[in-house]
Amino acid sequence: MFITCVCVCVCVCVCVFASGQYLVERILKDGDALGLTLAFVWNRNPDKLKGFVPDELILLDLSSFADRRCDVIVEVCHPHIVKEFGLHFLSRSHFLVGSPSAFSDPDLNQKLHRAARQHSRTLYVPSGALWGGQDIQRLNDSGALKALFIRMSKHPSCFRLTGDVLSDWTEQEGRRVLFRGSVAELCPLAPNNVNTMAAAAVAAGTLGFAGVQGEIVSDTALRDYHVVEVEVTGPNGFSVHTVRRNPAKLGAVTGSATYNSFWNSLLVCKGHGGRVYLC
Ligand SMILES: NC(=O)c1ccc[n+]([C@@H]2O[C@H](COP(=O)([O-])OP(=O)(O)OC[C@H]3O[C@@H](n4cnc5c(N)ncnc54)[C@H](O)[C@@H]3O)[C@@H](O)[C@H]2O)c1
Ligand SMILES: *[C@@H]1O[C@H](CO)[C@@H](O)[C@H](O)[C@H]1NC(C)=O
Repeated sequence: MFITCVCVCVCVCVCVFASGQYLVERILKDGDALGLTLAFVWNRNPDKLKGFVPDELILLDLSSFADRRCDVIVEVCHPHIVKEFGLHFLSRSHFLVGSPSAFSDPDLNQKLHRAARQHSRTLYVPSGALWGGQDIQRLNDSGALKALFIRMSKHPSCFRLTGDVLSDWTEQEGRRVLFRGSVAELCPLAPNNVNTMAAAAVAAGTLGFAGVQGEIVSDTALRDYHVVEVEVTGPNGFSVHTVRRNPAKLGAVTGSATYNSFWNSLLVCKGHGGRVYLC
């Protein structure tokens, strides 16, 4: 299969460095040479797209996505959109799920996988800020993965939490553990901040969202980068511990290296035919 037309269903936000904006700019700049064409861009506030997306590529109503022919739909927005539109998208296109915390809902997870099989589409999960995702997946597949723990530490301005746990932070407070628990428990609390953990839980299929453990930490010292730590445990004392420092602007949900990672995942979608593919 050759992708002639990529439809990026992106939410580009006020934040100038958000993933969606990055992908759109990259497709407009480099897409031609790579055989990628932008079919449409959607944001819940279309005014934010004016000026940097050509008018004819702005989709006003996401429910009419099927009017634009495209091979891959990319979501870099919010798990809500995966829930609301994922099944519809899969009936028409392959689907790159940039907010894989959506898979923490077992019912939705099952429905998306079923729809992908039924329509012979691929569900892509970008590895994003996760280091070693394919190694985790290989360990899972061989039945050797015993435990997985991921800790994400960021400046408090980088968190988007559903509760008010972080409403009172001060610049001097240092480090504070916000939550520790299974990724299944963490996803609803911080849907925009746990996607790296969610991608890991997808790779670690045998442990699943309930079996993979996570921790999110607020740290005022982290003004320039996010830290992602991964601890993988295998049999007979096998273990791997990685620490990734991901440069990030103050207040950014996504580290800057992750944008490039998303772009590489998009390129992997060209010509793939598996069922669930961590890229
Ligand atoms: N897989 C990974 O490792 C990984 C890494 C980083 C970010 N992400 C995820 O990718 C997504 C985009 O990241 P980002 O840095 O561009 O985020 P961002 O917050 O900068 O931008 C998200 C955009 O989605 C819009 N949005 C938020 N909630 C919405 C809703 N309910 N309906 C419609 N639009 C909504 C916002 O207005 C904004 O335009 C997020 O879900 C983020 O968690 C995944
Ligand atoms: C994880 O391993 C199990 C058992 O080997 C397999 O059924 C499943 O598809 C694997 N998950 C992924 C995402 O590779």
